[in-house]
Amino acid sequence: MRTRLPLVDDHLPQSVRVERRAVSEEESRRANGPDWDRYADEYQATHGTFLGDAGFVWGPEGHTEEELHVLGDVAGLDVLEVGSGAGQCSRWVRTRGGRGFGLDLSHRQLQHSQRLDEETGVAVPSVRGTATHLPFAPATFDVVFCSFGALQFVSDIEDAVGEVARVLRPGGRFAFSVTHPTRWMFPDDPGEAGLTATQSYWDRTPYVEVDDATGVVSYVEHHRTLGDWVRLLAGHGFVLSDLVEPEWPADHDRVWGGWSRARGVLTPGTAIFVAHVAVQ
Ligand SMILES: C[S@@+](CC[C@H](N)C(=O)[O-])C[C@H]1O[C@@H](n2cnc3c(N)ncnc32)[C@H](O)[C@@H]1O
Repeated sequence: MRTRLPLVDDHLPQSVRVERRAVSEEESRRANGPDWDRYADEYQATHGTFLGDAGFVWGPEGHTEEELHVLGDVAGLDVLEVGSGAGQCSRWVRTRGGRGFGLDLSHRQLQHSQRLDEETGVAVPSVRGTATHLPFAPATFDVVFCSFGALQFVSDIEDAVGEVARVLRPGGRFAFSVTHPTRWMFPDDPGEAGLTATQSYWDRTPYVEVDDATGVVSYVEHHRTLGDWVRLLAGHGFVLSDLVEPEWPADHDRVWGGWSRARGVLTPGTAIFVAHVAVQ
């Protein structure tokens, strides 16, 4: 499963081979940081308008936070976005009165964030870092969220969810969108071929791209089943309050990687988990 491929106009370089195999957290990070640095300009050029410079989109189906109200009222709250990219969602949080902050692994994505800060006049203070080591004191935030950010790129997911639990205040909210786990059963294809299950839903072996010439891992995504996510959240003291599975909108025809109308009207493409830290 590759979040952003196959795009109709974007194919894997011939020198890259796809594998399913185990990869460590370090390998995942070493691959994905530079990969997002390389891809950031194209990503922002392709999807920037759809995302909105100060817009909050939860996934390729185009549902916004205004529609879904996953975070609730953010006014006056300290809000951290993990895997913030160009900070569009956190900028939206700021326009709603929240103190939105960003964290991302990719230097180039953060440069785009700074560009949008200047262009919009709404600045999102952001830091370069990784989801598995959040550089914040315990109980710093009221809300932590990811919109397709970081979590499916991380191998040590126990550490990442544990870090979110650590930096949230008692009762704080954690909401995140990821590729719907059931999508991992299907080929990564927005057309008809993407509608026939060919892989086991329970195969958690990561999706890995390897540079043929050097043998270096150049991109990684990690799969967790629905049950894995529930167990992860419960294991770190979260109470799950919702699992939003946005339906494909009637007036939406945009293809984004493997997300398309052809697949979206039949199978869910995005899962949004909503949880809060249990108050003792
Ligand atoms: C699909 S983008 C989502 C960004 C933003 N929410 C958006 O909609 O454009 C995923 C982001 O996660 C970041 N990322 C990947 N691995 C990460 C990690 N281990 N820690 C923090 N960010 C990470 C990437 O650099 C990228 O900016």
